[in-house]
Amino acid sequence: MTLADIPATSGHATAPVGAPPLDAPDDLTVWPHSTTRLAHGDLAVGGVPLTEIAERFGTPAYLLDEAEVRERCRTYLHAFPETDVLYAAKAFLCRAMAHWVEEEGLGLDVCSAGELELAVTTGFPASRIVLHGNAKSPDDLRSALRLGVGRIVIDSASEIARLAAAVPPGSRQKVLVRVVPGIAAGGHSKIQTGTEDQKFGLSITDGSAQHAIARILDQPGLELVGLHCHLGSQITTDKPYLCAVRRLVGLMARIKDHHGITLPELDLGGGHGIAYRPGEDALAITTLARKVRAELAESCAAAGLAVPRLIVEPGRAIAGPAGIALYRVLSVKRTSDRTFVAVDGGMSDNPRPALYGVRYLPRLIGRRSTAAPVPVTVVGRHCEAGDVLASDIPLPSDTHPGDLLAVPVAGAYHLSMASGYNLVGRPPVIAVSDGHARLLVRRESLEDFRSRDVGL
Ligand SMILES: Cc1ncc(COP(=O)(O)O)c(C=O)c1O
Repeated sequence: MTLADIPATSGHATAPVGAPPLDAPDDLTVWPHSTTRLAHGDLAVGGVPLTEIAERFGTPAYLLDEAEVRERCRTYLHAFPETDVLYAAKAFLCRAMAHWVEEEGLGLDVCSAGELELAVTTGFPASRIVLHGNAKSPDDLRSALRLGVGRIVIDSASEIARLAAAVPPGSRQKVLVRVVPGIAAGGHSKIQTGTEDQKFGLSITDGSAQHAIARILDQPGLELVGLHCHLGSQITTDKPYLCAVRRLVGLMARIKDHHGITLPELDLGGGHGIAYRPGEDALAITTLARKVRAELAESCAAAGLAVPRLIVEPGRAIAGPAGIALYRVLSVKRTSDRTFVAVDGGMSDNPRPALYGVRYLPRLIGRRSTAAPVPVTVVGRHCEAGDVLASDIPLPSDTHPGDLLAVPVAGAYHLSMASGYNLVGRPPVIAVSDGHARLLVRRESLEDFRSRDVGL
């Protein structure tokens, strides 16, 4: 069984899913494949006990199961033959992650000079990198051209002249155009990017995309190689992707009619939904790939177009399920309505529940409790009432300060969205594989805050 065929267990941010049953807290279906149960209520991931990680590296801490990341990369390559699979670095990037993804044969989608430079200085070939961004800075464009990125995705009309002017005379930069296909998909309104009323891309409906394409074709320094769209994130059905294929192929056919060119590439972005808690829906990658490729072949045949090379950009589906967050309980407070279990991290390392209501299922590790599970709200240590990590989840009624909690599916959009709120310091990232743990990114320290703060 491949990861892609794992029974659908994921969900999305706003799914009306109730709290998990109190008697089913031991379900490990959303945990990495390598997860095993140990004595005394501990779990091991990548062959390393989680309590050992907490002891050795402190909490809060994030660990990444290297084998799970690699296996997910392979699942994509297997499901999508003759496709460029680009890992979306915004989900999580560090040098090791770039290295693993590169070794597995994926490309990379970046959206800043920072992500780009980190990847390239780690040895990632720039030609396999695509630069995105609705508002690329001069520095982003300069770095992309200097390092020789494979593609730049044009996201606004004003970018065309800026980019064309920056391309060195005599050379040509390959570009895609990000279009808005007018499709609503995604787990929450804040992560829907295929509709008209949002900041990304150029509308097909109002003609902005067609206008931009004509302008790009007038620029000798730019080579238009394809269309791009990204519908949104945490999409759990394949229908929106099939609809996007039809609309983009339709536009490609009109481009051929008007300009006499056949674009060789079609980038469908990412957004493939994953499981955050047992029982939720996930997008089955193998099925998605089969249907998308069939739809593409059919639509192109109907339009008399050569089939373009497909590009996909999964982020969370590669990094998310490979990550675990570890927290230590600092306090337990019982009010008349609720029990609050407060941990030593929170919205500064995981802003997603506060941003768009993502529902996680932390579990107690490191001791076996015989106490009955009760509904609790796991909160962070930050100075915001909205600093909630998980509402109404079951934990043993004897959960107390000093206990360890582990949160699965914590590998994507946690640390990459982490903030410096309250100067708590961002947690370290630890790789686990074959029974070994190694530090990838160290904990942010007081000395880091002091050294950045250069004025008085
Ligand atoms: C252009 C683009 N591609 C890919 C992704 C990755 O999305 P996901 O992590 O949901 O797969 C994003 C996410 O924001 C994106 O904006």
